[in-house]
Amino acid sequence: MPRFAAWSAERARAIIDDYRDTSGALLPALHALLVEFGHIAPEAIPLLAEALTLSRADVQGVITFYHDFRTTPPGRHLVKLCRAEACQSMGSASLEDHARHHLAIGWGETTEDGEFTLEPVFCLGNCALSPAVMVDGELYGRVSPERFDAILASAGQSTAAPEQTP
Ligand code: FES
Repeated sequence: MPRFAAWSAERARAIIDDYRDTSGALLPALHALLVEFGHIAPEAIPLLAEALTLSRADVQGVITFYHDFRTTPPGRHLVKLCRAEACQSMGSASLEDHARHHLAIGWGETTEDGEFTLEPVFCLGNCALSPAVMVDGELYGRVSPERFDAILASAGQSTAAPEQTP
């Protein structure tokens, strides 16, 4: 079962309507859209602007400012690597290099097969066990390059098509 719903203007309108009378509604409305669709579709911008009485530029500005508000659908697995100080001091830079090389993508990109999206994060609250990584909301500590590969292999298996039996 997909983690996120396919984009639907009707569903987006219903979500945004829940925030219509809330002050400071834009951020919670964007978060709600992100939870539902996994990204903020460009088509959501005029819906948000109209419902919350904002300019499209205001909405676009907030989406651009917060890197969590991705505007394209993520891969089947969301991989977040911590780039904050404690993790840096424990060698996260080499883990970053390994991750980007292993997946052959940069920050914010998705692998060609749609399996993994790689995102930076600045502290996962797991500093004592750095370097820290989060995959599909699951937190991992003291992640070496070898462990990183094993975690991703395990996540990939969870979405692999079942083998056909003759
Ligand atoms: S600095 Fe990486 S988990 Fe806190």
